[in-house]
Amino acid sequence: MKDLPATSSVTKSQKENRQQTHIWLASDHAGFQLKSLLIEHLKAQDDFVVYDEGPLNNGRVDYPDYAWPLTLKVAESLKHKTQCFGILICGTGIGVSLVANQHPDIRAALAHNIFTAQMARLHNNAQVLCLGARVIGQDLALAMVDVFLNTKFEGGRHDTRLKLMNQYREQYEKS
Ligand code: RB5
Repeated sequence: MKDLPATSSVTKSQKENRQQTHIWLASDHAGFQLKSLLIEHLKAQDDFVVYDEGPLNNGRVDYPDYAWPLTLKVAESLKHKTQCFGILICGTGIGVSLVANQHPDIRAALAHNIFTAQMARLHNNAQVLCLGARVIGQDLALAMVDVFLNTKFEGGRHDTRLKLMNQYREQYEKS
């Protein structure tokens, strides 16, 4: 039987050349535990550079104090064309999604299942995934994050709609 070439050096150089995805995570007290679990899950993979934007414990906090700084970081990183995403978690996911969507360059999607997590990327090109730690279970959250991070925007007619969204906002801001 022919000897197979050693694959370790190929794998190493592929890893060195591959662009890593930067992922920021933040929560409030309700989302703290799920955030910790997701960070552990993402850090275990070579593909991601993971940033924990707090809080550092499950003491009561106000979600805008964590969601907005994360939103700014993702928006800044997108300006530099870095491949990046944000993940925000609160009790329902509603509060953090409202905060992140205040930013004109950010589309934050509140998802409740695999389908909505996938569609948030496929049709809405969302850069931030919002989760409700009191709404979904941990296993589902992990699966939703995986599908969100691995789904590409479909573009085409969906891009037209995103452009329209921006045009309506800009028109309103000028009025
Ligand atoms: C905190 O109790 C809760 O209001 C918050 O986590 C979130 O659900 C808000 O939308």
